[in-house]
Amino acid sequence: MSTQRTATLTVDGKTVEFPIMKGTHGNDVIDIRTLGAKTGLFTYDSGFLSTASCQSRITYIDGDKGELLYRGYPIEQLAENCTFLEVAYLLKQGELPNLQQKLTFEKTIKTHTMVHEQLVKFFQGFRRDAHPMAVMVGVVGALSAFYHEVTDFSDAEHRNISFNRLVAKLPTIVAMAYKYNTGQPFMYPRNDLDYTANFMYMMFGTPCEQYKPNPVLVKALDLIFTLHADHEQNASTSTVRLSGSSGANPFACISAGIACLWGPAHGGANEACLQMLEEIGDVSRVGEYIKRAKDKNDSFKLMGFGHRVYKNFDPRAKLMGKVCADVLAELGLENDRLFKLARELEKIALEDPYFIEKKLYPNVDFYSGIVQKALGIPTSMFTCIFALARTVGWMTQWEEMLTDPEYKIGRPRQLYIGTARRDVPSLDKR
Ligand code: SDX
Repeated sequence: MSTQRTATLTVDGKTVEFPIMKGTHGNDVIDIRTLGAKTGLFTYDSGFLSTASCQSRITYIDGDKGELLYRGYPIEQLAENCTFLEVAYLLKQGELPNLQQKLTFEKTIKTHTMVHEQLVKFFQGFRRDAHPMAVMVGVVGALSAFYHEVTDFSDAEHRNISFNRLVAKLPTIVAMAYKYNTGQPFMYPRNDLDYTANFMYMMFGTPCEQYKPNPVLVKALDLIFTLHADHEQNASTSTVRLSGSSGANPFACISAGIACLWGPAHGGANEACLQMLEEIGDVSRVGEYIKRAKDKNDSFKLMGFGHRVYKNFDPRAKLMGKVCADVLAELGLENDRLFKLARELEKIALEDPYFIEKKLYPNVDFYSGIVQKALGIPTSMFTCIFALARTVGWMTQWEEMLTDPEYKIGRPRQLYIGTARRDVPSLDKR
């Protein structure tokens, strides 16, 4: 007796069976890869609400439990016990590093933090007030014009070098985008500083005086990187996977991921959330905006609320709320206007029947803007910070896709609803 679970589909009197695949956790899936051949039918799932695009071992999200696991470890425990680079190593290798592996990986990353001096010239083409995410898309994409000696991505060493270069250089490029926007000189990376302290030095240091990163703030930002490192098959990760599936250069694929992340429905929500809080301005106006968010005829959405997968709380939002409180306390900003407004907005929204019914909870973007603003990071840079951290997840997912034995170029089909076949009329008959 076969124990293989199957799903049966009967169409026009014909019955076909499809195997059900079981994962370690979460939803099992129906393997419908033979559906077209067996029935001549495709599935329709605009927005991929019920579609698994791949098998993955990297990240697991349980939207009902509010659970996020990186390689099986709960995000809460990683946030408490690991640095961002230890998490980057975990995501890439599948296991946490021991002390020797940690030190070796940190040293490897440190020796790749500088960018080619020619890359500096790419910045000159942008207006100083260009959005930093536009600069990031351009400059990270331009990295694909370098490193011609490393283009065989069937070779693990070439994949490793590309991973190390991107993880190491993203902080440098993000800091350069910020410095270019402010008109201040670029700060070269310093190998005597750890990853996140070095990033803060490149962002806020100047050649004119000593800059010593505040360790409490460094630790907070390092945790923010960890919370943003990966998130299974979100829109930007799916973009990286799909562009990588054609064999495209990984630097170009990461640039595509950055472009997708920029959208306000995705990674751009932290910037949009802070702008929304500034627009609301005062607790007395929260009700007006909650009303707008519930109005079907109003396109306004409460930025930082809701999630495709989390239909309970986003565990990252809880951790981000704590980081936010810690940073504000460290900086003596406990009475920060926006933070108090955000707390009030969260409380009111979570008690509102609409948000309860729609299962709309604060997501990772709700507090991240406030804490980044407190860290001195300008609003326009928030999504660049998100991209810096998510590069680890994007590159790990890119490598998993390339090394998947079932790897194929991604090529979805469609339901054609356009004009039926017709003949071209002569010009005098149009
Ligand atoms: C990220 O995928 C990921 O994992 C992404 C991410 C990651 O780490 O990669 O977690 C990062 O992108 C977080 C999400 C950041 N975006 C925002 O905060 C923008 C505001 N949120 C919404 O745009 C929305 O909630 C989404 C895009 C996040 C999720 O959209 P879905 O899953 O397509 O859900 P939906 O838009 O269909 O909403 C379901 C219902 C709708 O009402 P009905 O049509 O059913 O009547 O809830 C409503 C929506 O109108 N709704 C909201 C709302 N979000 C959803 N109403 C008011 N305010 C909101 N924020």
